[in-house]
Amino acid sequence: MYETRERWSSRRAFILAVTGAAVGLGNIWRFPYMTGENGGGAFLLLYIAFVLLLGLPVMMAEIMIGRAGRRSPSQSLAVLARQAGSSEQWRWLGLFGALTVFCILSFYSVVSGWSIEYLIAAINGNFAGQGPAEVGAFFEGFLADPLRMTFNHTLFLLMTMTVVAAGVSKGLERLNNLMMPLLYLLLVVLASYAATTDGFAPALRWLFTPDPSAISVGVVLNAMGHAFFTLAVGACALMAYGAYMPDHQSLPRAAGAVAVLDVLVALLAGIAIFSVVFAQGIDPAEGPGLMFVTLPIVFAELPWGSLWLGLFFLLLLLATWTSSINLAEPMVAGLQGLGLRRSRATALIAVSIWLVGILSVLSFSHLEAVHIVAGMNFFELVSSVPSEIFLPIGGLLIAVFAAWVMPREMALRALDAGPVGFRVWQGVVRWVSIPLTALVLMSGLI
Ligand code: PFF
Ligand code: NA
Repeated sequence: MYETRERWSSRRAFILAVTGAAVGLGNIWRFPYMTGENGGGAFLLLYIAFVLLLGLPVMMAEIMIGRAGRRSPSQSLAVLARQAGSSEQWRWLGLFGALTVFCILSFYSVVSGWSIEYLIAAINGNFAGQGPAEVGAFFEGFLADPLRMTFNHTLFLLMTMTVVAAGVSKGLERLNNLMMPLLYLLLVVLASYAATTDGFAPALRWLFTPDPSAISVGVVLNAMGHAFFTLAVGACALMAYGAYMPDHQSLPRAAGAVAVLDVLVALLAGIAIFSVVFAQGIDPAEGPGLMFVTLPIVFAELPWGSLWLGLFFLLLLLATWTSSINLAEPMVAGLQGLGLRRSRATALIAVSIWLVGILSVLSFSHLEAVHIVAGMNFFELVSSVPSEIFLPIGGLLIAVFAAWVMPREMALRALDAGPVGFRVWQGVVRWVSIPLTALVLMSGLI
């Protein structure tokens, strides 16, 4: 079976690669609108609790399986299961992960295409001096134009697949080195500017005062799903990156760094966006358009606003680029494991994702009112169920495999955190992460 020799060039490169996978639309687009729809502070509190209790320990579980197996997710699971004297049927978990990333990437690419549109509009100075009504109209007009949206979706997929075809560790490293520091800088500028506006105080109150009456089973399920989504955990995508992890690197330290960076980006973006929401009287529960109707307004008020806005969408695009490269990797590695050439595998995945993505594009025009299940159209379905149900199910199984099936010696070595660190991790996964995920999933499904 195909065992990979590819490695990230350093510990820092590995952390950057995982951060690149984690930081993306989840932080800047999904986090604010989910928080807006799910009651503000209560959602934020639950999401942070889930990041600590589930996201982080399961992220370690997932990466350590990849690192111990050094193959595509399915093959790593099968080989390790055999060595542990368990069933090779564990390979299906890898396939389930591939199904999950397939669904996610199909809409992720479409929404990333929205950033391309905004990047171009910003550079052209389209938003200069515009208020909520004009920006809202621009967004509506764009959504009603499936051809433009398809064009951007195509462009974004091509960008993604070019890097994937070349093998992720080469192209990605340089991109990450440049992008991450700039993104933070810009978010800090944005949040500091937001601090000088009238919306800042109500935004902080909304984000940081949890209202217990806002909590329902649905909100808890959404917060759990978002914790998995934002950390890129539960789809075996990080397992694929773990296969390239260098031998001597402590996993808890690396994963901890990623989680902190990821939450920070979400908080900065949330502060900036909700400051505009409250200053302009926009509805926090506006939905997936929230970021696209608020951010142009903040920037419009800054000197050289169009330039800042353009730079922001450029960085967002780079962030979603590195995430979608990660989303594609387990599918490509999987097909490669079946003997396909990497370029063929990439092309096959690209075409399938492109086609399914068109259904998301049309969900804003022709197929808007076509409800697939539970009153959701195609876009609403693929942007919720895979994240809120598939990722936690995948995460749960990954956790069971790492904490109960993998032999102790093997897991100890792959975690690389010493015997005490190992015992703490194993205890948390066995007695907190697994039961909690199962409980929330079950109450959500009933
Ligand atoms: N973590 C990414 C984000 O926050 O945008 C999305 C993501 C990437 C989800 C990879 C799942 C995944 F496997
Ligand atoms: Na994220």
